Amino acid sequence: MYSKEVMEHFKNPKNVGEIKDADGVGKVGNFTCGDIMWIYIKVKDNVITDIKFKTMGCAAAIATSSMATELAKGKTLDEAVKITKQDIATSLGGLPAIKLHCSVLATEALAEAIYDYLSKKKMPISDDLKKKHEQIKKELEMTEKRHGDFTKDQGHC
Ligand code: FES
Repeated sequence: MYSKEVMEHFKNPKNVGEIKDADGVGKVGNFTCGDIMWIYIKVKDNVITDIKFKTMGCAAAIATSSMATELAKGKTLDEAVKITKQDIATSLGGLPAIKLHCSVLATEALAEAIYDYLSKKKMPISDDLKKKHEQIKKELEMTEKRHGDFTKDQGHC
């Protein structure tokens, strides 16, 4: 079902953890399954110099977070915000159709971390990113309302 690359990133995920003095933090949730993900970034001269994630979710969510952080590291904010779920899935040698939605969480968490950084720095934010942020924020609120506070829970799938 899963490719060799997915299994490798699930068993040995890269960039797991938290950055205490992160420049930007993104937290997202999936309303349907209840999975939650955080991405933390450090930024210097508009480039993501360090990135970490925490995911309470399925194997695909963990593998896609791991790959998203690998793809985003060293990229400019403009490049990183353009990373798509297809980029992540392709880099992982494909994902089963039923698990494609899991890769959306990773792109959203990355977008949220970038949004957080830009707003803290009072830098210009594109209309696309603002719109995405509003949708993501709404889904996270609905997810926490429906599934409870996963920051105190252990994930379920
Ligand atoms: Fe929830 Fe994969 S992200 S099932």
